[in-house]
Amino acid sequence: MDRKASTPKPATVYLKDYQPPAWQIEAVELEFDLDPQATRVRSRLQFRRAPETGPDTPLHLDGEALELLGIALDGEPLTADRYRLDEAGLEVRGLPETGVLEIETRINPSANTELSGLYTSSGNFCTQCEAEGFRRITFYPDRPDVMARFTTTLRADKVATPVLLSNGNPIASGELEDGRHYVTWQDPFPKPCYLFALVAGDLGWIRDRFVTRSGREVDLYIYVQKHNLDKCDHAMASLKHAMRWDEEVYGREYDLDRYMIVAVDDFNMGAMENKGLNVFNSRYVLARPDTATDADYQNIESVIGHEYFHNWSGNRVTCRDWFQLSLKEGFTVFRDQEFSSDMNSRGVQRIGDVNILRTHQFREDAGPMAHPVKPDHYVAIDNFYTVTVYNKGAEVVRMLHTLLGTEGFRRGCDLYFERHDGQAVTTDDFVNAMEAATGVSLQQFRRWYDQAGTPELELERHYDPQARTCALTLRQHCPPTPGQSDKQPFHIPVAMGLCDREGRALPLRLYGEAAAGGESRVLELCREEETFVFQDIPAEPVPVLLRGFSAPVKLALDYTDAELALLSAHERDPFCRWEAGQTLARRLLLTHPPQALDADTARPLIEAARRTLADTALDPALRALALTLPAEGYLAEFVDPIEPEQLHTARQALRLTLSRALRPDLEACYEQLTETGAYSPDAASAGRRRLRNLCLSYLIACEDDSAYQLALRQYEQAGNMTDSLAALQALVNSDCPQREAVLEDFYSRWQQDTLVVDKWLSLQATADRADTLERVQALTGHPAFSLTNPNKVYALLRAFAQGNPVGFHQASGAGYRFIGEQIRTLDGRNPQVASRLAAAFTDWRRYNPTRQAGMRTELEKMRDAGGVSRDLYEIAARSLGDDTGTD
Ligand code: TRP
Ligand code: ZN
Repeated sequence: MDRKASTPKPATVYLKDYQPPAWQIEAVELEFDLDPQATRVRSRLQFRRAPETGPDTPLHLDGEALELLGIALDGEPLTADRYRLDEAGLEVRGLPETGVLEIETRINPSANTELSGLYTSSGNFCTQCEAEGFRRITFYPDRPDVMARFTTTLRADKVATPVLLSNGNPIASGELEDGRHYVTWQDPFPKPCYLFALVAGDLGWIRDRFVTRSGREVDLYIYVQKHNLDKCDHAMASLKHAMRWDEEVYGREYDLDRYMIVAVDDFNMGAMENKGLNVFNSRYVLARPDTATDADYQNIESVIGHEYFHNWSGNRVTCRDWFQLSLKEGFTVFRDQEFSSDMNSRGVQRIGDVNILRTHQFREDAGPMAHPVKPDHYVAIDNFYTVTVYNKGAEVVRMLHTLLGTEGFRRGCDLYFERHDGQAVTTDDFVNAMEAATGVSLQQFRRWYDQAGTPELELERHYDPQARTCALTLRQHCPPTPGQSDKQPFHIPVAMGLCDREGRALPLRLYGEAAAGGESRVLELCREEETFVFQDIPAEPVPVLLRGFSAPVKLALDYTDAELALLSAHERDPFCRWEAGQTLARRLLLTHPPQALDADTARPLIEAARRTLADTALDPALRALALTLPAEGYLAEFVDPIEPEQLHTARQALRLTLSRALRPDLEACYEQLTETGAYSPDAASAGRRRLRNLCLSYLIACEDDSAYQLALRQYEQAGNMTDSLAALQALVNSDCPQREAVLEDFYSRWQQDTLVVDKWLSLQATADRADTLERVQALTGHPAFSLTNPNKVYALLRAFAQGNPVGFHQASGAGYRFIGEQIRTLDGRNPQVASRLAAAFTDWRRYNPTRQAGMRTELEKMRDAGGVSRDLYEIAARSLGDDTGTD
């Protein structure tokens, strides 16, 4: 099938083609006359030719969807022969070495459905410039290695738009004619234009103060629509915790007099770290006990932290080009994960992060969209804000932390910030600083940035009772990924220990060492195969590998069920302990047909679960994690082809078996954890709710009246959204006769609260029912749904396509056709959201031939549609195996 002749094939951008900018912009003055339909933007660019640039080199300014009203050089209008305008922007010739270019453009914020550039959301103006949105505001060299000082004046109607915000500090304000007013903002730090922001509208705010450890007073503001003012306190508390944490752990202070956060309802991603003026998806700001769950509270803390930490890892030191995206994102995710660990429970946090990595990133790394942490080509950069760049990138930084130790890592960070403050740099600069500060060679380690794919590790163990030695042979292998057939071995830190048959840790003395060096250590696997020999081992030990999941690899272990049971009961590392139990459950699920998963077969799992339910000394959140069966998305990694309903049926069968066998234990645990005090989102309270609600979800699997009554009672009496939603979810996934009535009750209670309505949509999209697809289709016509709001699309359509494998992959292909059609409609409005939704199709080769055909047809329709966006084209073409890496 050929692409329509009218649609040229989108171009590919290559890392190898990188050229430093020929022109620098030293200062920018922007003036906005804000109007929803016709905003005028005047910009004064103070430019300077780079020293290596020849005098004839034109200045290229990116521009997209702009109406050019005027252009002048040093006060004189430019004649038409001095510049050229095309779809990509503006080229200006014959410029002096330095000067001032004045450009006036007109844009239409209310028609901006892509939510990139300047747009309106709930009647307010806001911007999103990362990665390439600034070019939709004015003509500019829209690349992160052009850093300038910004001064921004906003003018707007005083009544409709009382609040006028931009980066930095306010330096002037006043009244204008015709009921308008203005504010001028100045940001003293040079920055790339992707960090520019403006927000204007009728917003309310809360204010607080933070004193940095050197005594600087910082005013903190959170701006929201006025009806949300009672939902900002948790975000503000989280911000102050993040500011303190970055001082304590990294020695990094905030650098402006104010820090502002704005919540908007229409936002493509989670949040944006614009200098001094973060813009957030409102779901990562707003929380009240009756509207937000424990998970929401937790996510808010983590995203507030993430954006705050970017002030150093991203803003003060930024990326040279977008191939370096993980420089800021991987590092900052690592920082927010550590922040959350320190604020809550480290073990729980780590297990959650590993779960995300293994279910989503490993999958990406094994499919047609696999790319290195530092990609080397792209069509649409927005497609590379991926779990690989973010979460695998964070694992790479975590490995550096493991290899260098806390102090060495900190010295490396200090040197990195010292060397590169105010610069736009590369991931290599980051690793160089780590090397220079510690003297450790990271030559081979750098491969983690360039080679895609998940390495597979194999362990062979040999115990010699005469010599009392235990030899561990580790072998690594990385499967080929698109465009990379041969992989070089990685430098892999393997945190490990050995324990005896009672689960006691053994001292570790490697062959050739004079004395034991502790009970846990990090082996460094650098070659394809290496053998580590431990001495003074009295009897055959159980090796424990990848404590804390010390490397993003797949590890195949030949543990016996008895060894797994031992580790799941005694191992001190929360991750390895949890992993042992999960492996036991996974073996059961993947080696028995669903009808064979009875109490006899599941006996070891049932007994382990019974002990966990009664083990009140253990953190309830860890108990909940131990009792949660492996997700279907994770199990899918181990089967070929993926048969979604088989995985689902098996998991449901095992759940029912556990539920029946453990009913009194589950009820006792549930009762014991029932609390009546005021809601608090702290980790301990949230952990108790998590375990109690897990008990409820097991109990309702029995599908009898007493379980229904328990859930109905919890729904009616819940004093917080966590318990209310958990009860509703249990009911919706059951055959309880009242399920529809409760769903309706929930909607009528919360229809005014858009974020709560998102939960209502997701619950229905992921419901375990035969008619879910029809339900989702009907809901696209419900007043609560809107294709123009990304949160609604994610809550309903993505929840169905990615959170309901049985529904989406139904054999008729109806799920594919429905979502495919939605994607193509969406692509004309918001390509970023359309291509995110299309990710549900990229794995098509993992399914049986019928499903492959259904998914492939949809991908081809997306790729070949006339006027398809670059974003969607790239996802569809790469998924289909087209090579976008060569033209
Ligand atoms: N830098 C943002 C972050 O903290 C990511 C982001 C926000 C983004 N909005 C975006 C990326 C729009 C692409 C497009 O992770
Ligand atoms: Zn980020």
